[in-house]
Amino acid sequence: MIPEPDVDMMADESSELIHTQIVKKDPSKLRLKPNLLGYEDLRTTFRWSDAEKMVDWFPGGKINAAYNAVDRHALGKRKDKVALIYDDGEGNFSKLTFDQLYRQTNKFANVLKKIGVKRQDRVFFFLSRSPALYIGFLGAIKYGAIASPMFPAFGPDGIKDRMLDSGAVAIVTDGELKKRVYEVVKDLPELKHIIVTGKEVAQNEVSLDTEMAEASDQFEATHMDPEEFSYMLYTSGTTGKPKGVVHAHKDIVQMHLSTYWVLDVHEEDVYWCTADLGWVTGVVYGVLGPWSNGVTQVGLGGRFDPERWYKTIQSYKVSVWYTAPTAVRMLMAKGDDLPNKYDLSSLRALYSVGEPLNPEGVKWALDVFDSKPFHDTWWQTETGSILITNFPEMDIKPGSMGKPLPGIEAAIVDENGKPLGQGEEGHLCIRPGWPAMMRQIWKNPAKYNEYFRNGWYYTGDTAQTDEDGYFWYVGRADDVIKTAGERVGPFEVESALIEHPAVAEAGVIGKPDEIRGNIIKAFIVLTPGYTESDALKTDIQKFVKSKLAGHAYPREIDVVKNLPKTRSGKIMRRLLRARELGLPIGDTSTLED
Ligand code: WT7
Repeated sequence: MIPEPDVDMMADESSELIHTQIVKKDPSKLRLKPNLLGYEDLRTTFRWSDAEKMVDWFPGGKINAAYNAVDRHALGKRKDKVALIYDDGEGNFSKLTFDQLYRQTNKFANVLKKIGVKRQDRVFFFLSRSPALYIGFLGAIKYGAIASPMFPAFGPDGIKDRMLDSGAVAIVTDGELKKRVYEVVKDLPELKHIIVTGKEVAQNEVSLDTEMAEASDQFEATHMDPEEFSYMLYTSGTTGKPKGVVHAHKDIVQMHLSTYWVLDVHEEDVYWCTADLGWVTGVVYGVLGPWSNGVTQVGLGGRFDPERWYKTIQSYKVSVWYTAPTAVRMLMAKGDDLPNKYDLSSLRALYSVGEPLNPEGVKWALDVFDSKPFHDTWWQTETGSILITNFPEMDIKPGSMGKPLPGIEAAIVDENGKPLGQGEEGHLCIRPGWPAMMRQIWKNPAKYNEYFRNGWYYTGDTAQTDEDGYFWYVGRADDVIKTAGERVGPFEVESALIEHPAVAEAGVIGKPDEIRGNIIKAFIVLTPGYTESDALKTDIQKFVKSKLAGHAYPREIDVVKNLPKTRSGKIMRRLLRARELGLPIGDTSTLED
C-alpha cells in the first residue's frame, strides 16, 4: 500500500501484557462528539434504508457515486470548500475546491464522450498520484465508465493481465509510465485510446492537457442504475491470474456511512488517507467515501518518508489519519525523537488497515500522538467497505479488529457453515448482501461463486471472537501473501519466476517479517547448466520486478534440489512454509515421494 522506504531497525518494544490492556474510551472526553454513538442499540435498530437517505438519488432510483462525491457539494453549500490539498512530496502544493473538482471532472467526462468511450467501458489509469488521477478517476465514474486505477509499480505483465482480462478501451498515463504500457500494447486488441498527460504526447495518442483545455466544464452526471458498475480493481488469490473485482454505484451508500461512522469525519476535519489509488483503500477511503461526506482531504505524492509524513500532518493540520500497519511499524522503527520534533497536535483520530496491527503499534501511538490510539479496521477489496472495526466511542482491545458495522452479520464458521463458539478459531464469514459487496469477478462467475458457501461469504481469513464480541484475526486460510499490506498471489510470482531462463521450478510463500508483516520468499530449482550465485539471484529478482511489479518480487530466494509436490504435480507451499518456519509438517499423504 505504500512505496518502498528504507528501514534500518525495528523498535524493540514488545510486551505480552499489552494484550490485556484495554484502551478505555470516554466519548464525552473526545475532542468532537463521535458520529456513531450507541453501537449496541444500532446493531439491532439500524436498517440499510436509513443509510440510503444519506446520499443523493436521481429520479427513478438512479444514482451516481461521483455525483455524490463531488457535484452535490459543488452545487450546494460546500462549493468553495477545499476538497483536495495536493502535495507533490517535494514541497509544492495545490488546492482544489469542490467547485473546481466539479468543473475538472466534468471536463474529463466530456473528453471521454468526445473520443467515443461508451457507458460501462473500462477506463484504466496508470498514473502516479496527482490531481489528474483524482480528476480522471471521478470523471470516468461520473461519465458512467468503469474506472480502474493501477498501482504505478506494475510492470508490463501486471498491466497486461489486467487490461486484457477487462477489455479496457482506454488508458490514462504519463510520458514516463506509458513506456511500460507500450511493451504490451500489441497484446491489447481492445485498447483504443492512450490518453497522456504532459507534453510528451505522440501522434496516435490523446493529449489530456489539450483536450481538457478545450472541453466544456459542464456535464450532467449520468444517471446510473444502482447496480451498474463504478470501479474495478484486480486482486490476488491463491491460484491463477489476478481477478477483477467489480463494484457498483450503489456502494456509495456504504462508503459514505462507514466513513461517517468509523473514520468519523466532521465538517472541520482535514483527512489524510495514505493509500495509493491503485489499492481499494485509496479508492474507497482516499476518494469516494470522504468526499461523499464533503471533507477536506490531503493527497501526498512521492515515496514513503517518515519526516515527510510527520511534516504533512503538521503543515496541513491533519486531524483524521488512515494508514497501514507496515507504515506504523516503519515509523516506530525510526524512533520517538522524530515525531517529537513536529507539532502533531492537530491529530484527533488514527486508523489502520491491510494486515494485523500489532498491539505495540496501538500503544506506541498512545505515547507519541498524545494519547491517541490507532483504530484497526478490517475489510477487503471484495467487501468494498470497512466491515469490522474499532469505533471511536468503543474501548480498544489492542490486537483486535473490533466489531462488525451495524448492518453487517459476521461470524466464525466451520467448513460446513456451522457457526463456532467464542474462542474457537475458524473461517471469518459475512452474511451476503451488504451494499458495497462486489458484484462480480469480471468474466468469471465460477470464481465469484467460490466465495459463497452455506449461505455465507467466506473471506479467506481465519479469526476468532472473544467474550465481548470482539473479533481477533488469526491468519489466511489460503496461500495469499500479505506483504507490506499488499496482496500478492504466489502463483503470479511463481509464473514470473519460471519465465527466467535459469529457473526450472518455483514455489513461493510468505515469510513473517517484523516490518512488512511478511516478505515474499521463493524456493527455486535451477535449470541444468546454471549455478547458484548472489548475482544470479539478484538478476532473478530484477527480472520479476520488471515483469510483474516493483513490490511483488521475492526478497529471499533459496535454491533447492526439488520442490515438494502432490502426485498431481501441484507445489505444496504448505510444506515449504512449514520447513522454513520449523512448523509441524502435517498431513503429507498426497506428497509425491
Ligand atoms: C486482506 C484483504 C481493504 C483494505 C486493504 C486490504 C487482510 C485487511 C486487516 C486487518 C488483519 C487484515 C486480510 C484480508 N487484512 N485488514 N485489520 N487485520 N488482516 O485489502 O488487498 O483486498 O486484502 O487483507 O487478510 O482478507 P485487500
